[in-house]
Amino acid sequence: MAGSSSFELASSLIVLFLLFQTFLIAEGFAESLSRRSLGIKNEKLSHFHFYWHDIVSGRNPTSVRVVGASANTSPTGFGIISMIDDPMTEGPEMRSKLVGRAQGFYAAASQQEVGLLMAMNFAFMDGKYNGSTITVMGRNTVFSAVREMPVIGGSGLFRFARGYVQAKTHTFNITTGDAVVEYNVYVLHY
Ligand SMILES: *[C@@H]1O[C@H](CO)[C@@H](O)[C@H](O)[C@H]1NC(C)=O
Ligand SMILES: *[C@@H]1O[C@H](CO)[C@@H](O)[C@H](O)[C@H]1NC(C)=O
Repeated sequence: MAGSSSFELASSLIVLFLLFQTFLIAEGFAESLSRRSLGIKNEKLSHFHFYWHDIVSGRNPTSVRVVGASANTSPTGFGIISMIDDPMTEGPEMRSKLVGRAQGFYAAASQQEVGLLMAMNFAFMDGKYNGSTITVMGRNTVFSAVREMPVIGGSGLFRFARGYVQAKTHTFNITTGDAVVEYNVYVLHY
């Protein structure tokens, strides 16, 4: 008899404790959510293929050096930073269909080779992806045949995005410094 009532007391205390906890969580700034409440169903894997145009020459450059004066004597350009608003097109030609713009910056982050820190948002402008973004941040050793960089997030259709990109130089004009880079993006999202 005594054993049974102390069991009841213990279970009431546990129930009270759980209720109190729920109350605390609901009243605070954080709460648990079901995936369903955000409309999250199955994770998808998408592949995108496009060309990224880095235009440093001419009257309308899409890549502008913002840090790193002529006093920079590093053979790898260490310390230079450029802001970009680079068009992304379906084909390698600049006149081919615009699918979005790569906005952000790259910075020469290596003293041993030309190794860039890339920090950019792919702002898509085509079809259902218009307005959605993918954020890429990674290391780009521009003279390597293929450079891989992580996709660290996204917005719109790319909420909760993760994945990677592979960049391959398509053309590099030594005279002007302009480059066209082929991008393959592999991204998991909902
Ligand atoms: C993309 O969205 C913007 C803003 O809503 C709109 O002005 C533009 O026409 C759209 N572009 C395409 C290609 O659908
Ligand atoms: C590099 O750009 C210059 C100036 O626009 C152009 O005359 C030349 O043909 C280009 N070179 C290559 C290999 O595309």
